[in-house]
Amino acid sequence: MSTHDRNRGDDTTIRPPVIAIDGPSGSGKGTIARKIAARLDWNFLDSGALYRLVAFSALHDAVRLDDVQTLAWVAAGLEIRFVLDATHADGVRVLLHGEDVSEDIRSEAVGEVASHVAAYPAVRDALIDLQRSFLKLPGLVADGRDMGTEVFAFAALKLFLTASVEERAQRRHKQLKDKGMSVSLAGLLEGMKARDERDQTRATSPLRPAEDALVIDCTEMSIEQVLERVLEEARARNLA
Ligand code: C5P
Repeated sequence: MSTHDRNRGDDTTIRPPVIAIDGPSGSGKGTIARKIAARLDWNFLDSGALYRLVAFSALHDAVRLDDVQTLAWVAAGLEIRFVLDATHADGVRVLLHGEDVSEDIRSEAVGEVASHVAAYPAVRDALIDLQRSFLKLPGLVADGRDMGTEVFAFAALKLFLTASVEERAQRRHKQLKDKGMSVSLAGLLEGMKARDERDQTRATSPLRPAEDALVIDCTEMSIEQVLERVLEEARARNLA
């Protein structure tokens, strides 16, 4: 039995409800997940931030990216806190061992390394309990790649948000520009394609919609339209 299965519990376990939102980077899932959590007054998990924190720590401590054992050790030892902060663009500050690393972990370089370390099963296993510790009453909105397929496979509502890679690169470009970071759109597009490929083809927890996920293509939709669509589904399941 894998660690994932052991921790999942059986179907009769009573747990707070989960809305799992998965999808590729730049699909808008982070924004939507945060807005849904705020609207329902539920807890929120940005699981990508955890992989970014492992990547950031590895870069900071010059850990080799093929040293799986040390990377898993770094993941298991993460001491993090998410502090709500309405003045921050993400609405939250990320503290690693007490130090504010909110900006550092959002760089493309850290995202790139995150997608490498995320391919190691030992790193993914080391983060499972930490991710599940976010599940508290009244409920949890979890944003990531494998929320509906692995970590919260029992989620009451599973969404897979996607959009064309060109649209996603444009959105990420604007997001970074708004934060004062300057990056080339062409470079972002190439990086995003490579990261999609890595996330979708890795052996452990590849990025894919859960069988019972509702897939929403957000290419032509505004944030408000996606938000309304998700809330509609939540209401239909008595979650909102
Ligand atoms: O969502 P974000 O871009 O912050 O995630 C950074 C990287 O972490 C992704 O490219 C992906 O490789 C990895 N990730 C993952 N599983 C998750 C969340 C993120 O593999 N649940």
